[in-house]
Amino acid sequence: MKTTGFIFDLDGVIVDTAKYHYLAWKKLADQLGIEFSKEDNENFKGVSRKRCLEILLEMGGLSVTSEQFDAWLVEKNEDYLLYIETMDETEILADVPRVLSYLKEKNIPMALGSASKNAKPILEKVQLLSYFETIVDGTQVTKAKPDPEVFLIAANRLGISPEHCIVFEDALAGIAAANAAKMISVGIGEADVLSDAHYNFKDFTEINLSFIDSLIQ
Ligand code: BG6
Ligand code: MG
Repeated sequence: MKTTGFIFDLDGVIVDTAKYHYLAWKKLADQLGIEFSKEDNENFKGVSRKRCLEILLEMGGLSVTSEQFDAWLVEKNEDYLLYIETMDETEILADVPRVLSYLKEKNIPMALGSASKNAKPILEKVQLLSYFETIVDGTQVTKAKPDPEVFLIAANRLGISPEHCIVFEDALAGIAAANAAKMISVGIGEADVLSDAHYNFKDFTEINLSFIDSLIQ
């Protein structure tokens, strides 16, 4: 019987798209005369598009009509789509396929749990869609990370109880969401930033298959 489920965030865990989100937000910020650094972009990781724009406008002390707000959301996404248009397998982060293939071989159920509304087309472009039993993305949740909803939906669809699910996340909000779901959280990135995670790795090259085995029940 399958008792363990693996849930992966997309941006910054499976593919290196955080840089494209940054460039698209930076373009809009420059246009609006708002200073926006790579450090500021850390607070945008795992955060919904709408919430990111709210934060950006708060940073600039701007309040705008809902029509203008929506127009900027569209503009940011159109710029982002231009960046991801030409994505292919070369943009999968190092050693991610090694871990996904191992889990697939062992028939361990896997889900994607992402805040992005662009998750599915990105997985198609990098040819990883077939690894996942289910995709829970930004089009399907009502409450954004750090709310646990996205991961709880994923666990439910996998038919695995939350405490037997392992979540791989690169964002503070994502680790908080996984912990709130009572799942085991694995932080991918700087350990001092993701200090609330149960386990920390800089990237997938540091993950041994014996560690994966130790998580499987
Ligand atoms: C998350 C990213 O995965 O998706 C965030 O970490 C991004 O930076 C969010 O804002 C929403 O993505 P999208 O593709 O729907 O704008
Ligand atoms: Mg992420």
